[in-house]
Amino acid sequence: MMAVIGGKTGKFVAKIRKMALPKHENREISNVLGLRCHSCKREYPLRGSDYLCPYCDGNLSVDYDFRLLRKTLSREAFARNGDLSLWRYCALLPIDPAGRRPFARPGWTPLLKAERLGRALGLLDLHLKDDGRNPSASLKDRASAVVLADAMQKGISLIAGASTGNAASSLACMAAGTGVKPLVFVPAAAPPAKIAQLLLYGAEVLAVRGGYDQAFDLCLDACEEFGWYNRNTGFNPFTREGKKTCSFEIIEQFGWRVPDVVVVSVGDGNILSGLWKGFLDFKSAGLIDSLPRMVAVQAKGSAAIARAFSSGKPIRPVKANTIADSISVNKPRDGDMARRALRQSRGFAVVVSDEEILDAMRLCARSEGVFAEPAAAAAVAGLKRAAAEGRIRPRNRVVAVITGSGLKDVAGAMRAAPKPRSVAPAMSALRALVKKNRSWVTP
Ligand SMILES: Cc1ncc(COP(=O)(O)O)c(C=O)c1O
Ligand SMILES: [Zn+2]
Repeated sequence: MMAVIGGKTGKFVAKIRKMALPKHENREISNVLGLRCHSCKREYPLRGSDYLCPYCDGNLSVDYDFRLLRKTLSREAFARNGDLSLWRYCALLPIDPAGRRPFARPGWTPLLKAERLGRALGLLDLHLKDDGRNPSASLKDRASAVVLADAMQKGISLIAGASTGNAASSLACMAAGTGVKPLVFVPAAAPPAKIAQLLLYGAEVLAVRGGYDQAFDLCLDACEEFGWYNRNTGFNPFTREGKKTCSFEIIEQFGWRVPDVVVVSVGDGNILSGLWKGFLDFKSAGLIDSLPRMVAVQAKGSAAIARAFSSGKPIRPVKANTIADSISVNKPRDGDMARRALRQSRGFAVVVSDEEILDAMRLCARSEGVFAEPAAAAAVAGLKRAAAEGRIRPRNRVVAVITGSGLKDVAGAMRAAPKPRSVAPAMSALRALVKKNRSWVTP
């Protein structure tokens, strides 16, 4: 069912701190030590802690028992694991490996060698991690799968979440058939394909007459008032856990070699912080011994994190405006951790215009057959700019993460594409057209 509701400018208020993650009623998660605040470093138990740090409102991160994991995890054991989905990484996720999980199986998306695109950008070792090939066609499936598994294992019957569109459609896809009801808050102006997915997967859809940030705040308030479990990106610490599996796959698919540079588009910053955590967790588990540089790409009209990173000042909200709806964010909800990922990895941020994003959509599609939505192509636009400016070397091994499929936003794709030729259903009309297009004449 879809309902349209009025937006409101809810604030990220102190009362939100009192919202607690539901408890794990059943088994202990033996590999997890607990949750840690990224800002004040205070530690909390996994069971029944708040979504944010109750002391300073910082984002929480899951800490694992790496002393134990170093003894149990090995490259060889991963090689023997026939599960080609993100569930092959259960030991590094905050869920019970023997517990219930969604039926959809995201992850193990292709890592494509992008020779032609690389040549166009002056890069000799470029790869695309195509996460548009996930079940609901975006990287967000990884986060939603882990949050759903957590909810199912806690016996929760309703999950609420706010989203620009992809997080919600992935939540609805993961919830399909599980008996857990997804209730999602999306901007009324979200691309129709994303809303169609939601409705078809059977979610309760609240089309908020406002932007993503208003939908996010309304969802927070609603979860507090009605006691709903909340999937909001960055706010729920398990979203980052799902997203980190993309990095695990990149490492395994490269035969345990670590790329030099990983490029990703950024809105809330949760994909970036998640990817970075994946590399850190693999290193802490003794599975790799170096780390890549992380590069964040933001749209010029939504660049709160990039601006703060280059100025060294705190992140200040912006008034977002970009064709790339998935990264159109006023106030990044995982901005501090994203910024820390850039700093720790000695990476950097790039800002691109909507025209550069449209150009990158054409480039990906025509050179590699990869159909990326605007927010996903933004990573390639940023990579093109960074390579041209000499910030990435030609011989660097580079991965650009394609975070969502172009089918998600057909109107966006049509803005990047030329118009089709119109032709009457007659051979005479076609002959006239062929005459005008010499390249159609085959030898
Ligand atoms: C396709 C796509 N790319 C990039 C992003 C940005 O992720 P984040 O908001 O975690 O920075 C999103 C988030 O919705 C997305 O759907
Ligand atoms: Zn704190």
